[in-house]
Amino acid sequence: MIKAVRGTRDLLPPDTALWNFVETAARNVFRLYNYREIRTPIFEQTQLFSRSVGEETDIVSKEMFTWEDHGKAASEKSQSLTLRPEATAGIVRAYIEHDLGRSGLLQKLYLMGPMFRRERPQKGRYRQFYQIDAEVIGPPAAGSESPSVDAELLEMLATFLERIGITGWTLELNSVGCANDRPKYNEALRAAIAKDIDKMCEDCRRRAVTNPLRVLDCKVPEDQPIIDKLPRMLDYLDESCRQHFQAVQDLLAAVGVSYVINSRLVRGLDYYTRTAFEFTHGALGAQNAILGGGRYDGLSESLGGPKAPGIGFAIGEDRLVLALGKTAEELSTPPDAYIAPLGAGMNREAARLARGLRGQGVVIELGDETFRLKKSLETGGKIGARFAIIVGENEVKADAFALKNLTTGEQVTVPRTELGNRIKQ
Ligand code: HAM
Repeated sequence: MIKAVRGTRDLLPPDTALWNFVETAARNVFRLYNYREIRTPIFEQTQLFSRSVGEETDIVSKEMFTWEDHGKAASEKSQSLTLRPEATAGIVRAYIEHDLGRSGLLQKLYLMGPMFRRERPQKGRYRQFYQIDAEVIGPPAAGSESPSVDAELLEMLATFLERIGITGWTLELNSVGCANDRPKYNEALRAAIAKDIDKMCEDCRRRAVTNPLRVLDCKVPEDQPIIDKLPRMLDYLDESCRQHFQAVQDLLAAVGVSYVINSRLVRGLDYYTRTAFEFTHGALGAQNAILGGGRYDGLSESLGGPKAPGIGFAIGEDRLVLALGKTAEELSTPPDAYIAPLGAGMNREAARLARGLRGQGVVIELGDETFRLKKSLETGGKIGARFAIIVGENEVKADAFALKNLTTGEQVTVPRTELGNRIKQ
């Protein structure tokens, strides 16, 4: 038997109702903040990700699904392609490619879809997973650098989580500085790490050279006392980064969104500047980040685009659904009625009746004339229909049908023209 590939899975009904619930709520909330949808390809040129997410990150160095695409036609060149491990790089590429900054306005964009990372599968972690991603990006004159953009985005997330009934989340906030203050911090970090480097794990030793900021993200228990004593980025912020971070916090306080500062929050992607954040949730165990994001003021330029500061986030939909605390059954709606055609030639009549009722917004499941009445009534009950409608020769002649309430067992005869209203009552 051929099975789904390790780390991928089928989302089956009724569980898909949970996914639809979350996606509909996200669309509705994003609409209130004037976001519009963007859809980008699920594969891109590999260098888009290595240049934005960063060569030294776990995502690029070990988790991407990459292949060499040999062009079939002579005119097609061979190129390295990658299934998108995240959405921000593709959205910023599209922003640059279509010159979305030319309007001089902020672009507020969202995207929903599958992402791909070759991680070790476990609860809340898959190789094909789903993100609900949103980005605000634009020329500085549009206000894209303003701390109010950061605060609005975070407040929108709090509103969204509240709407879908998720409580008990924590907003963890940090500033990772900018191109001006980061080098000084990296230097201080390297010097501090050097003192204890031989006591640290292998990953930390490598990162100390390649990307010292990532040492802060180490989860090895023995390394924690050393890491806790390392210098904090927050103490190295230059004046403008410090003021920006303070303004974000003031605005969050003004709109009543609570947060905690986590000076070790550095995120697993290299494009971040200034505000970085995660929403974590206790119900999720080890993979406790429901969503993460931050600012990326230099990303567009590093991909050859114009100056276009931005900020965004991605919600891990698989984890969000786990934290939802609702059941699929609560959110699923069974059909209103099951139509039971009785005897030869009645499928035609049943189909005609079903078409009329569905036109009135009644949800119908249709039986078959070869089924016995007992089987039809049982099936109607199994699928959770409230009513069964019996379509036999006598009913067709009278143009009135037996309507059986499957909960109470009560049965009445109702003219065709009144059936829809009767069922919807
Ligand atoms: P990220 O932190 O890599 O950020 O991913 C965001 C969220 O996606 C995580 O918090 C988690 O919920 C979910 N996630 C990540 N990997 C997996 C996985 N293997 N299985 C299930 N869920 C997963 C980004 O992707 C950035 N692009 C976010 C962003 C947007 N920053 C700025 N704009």
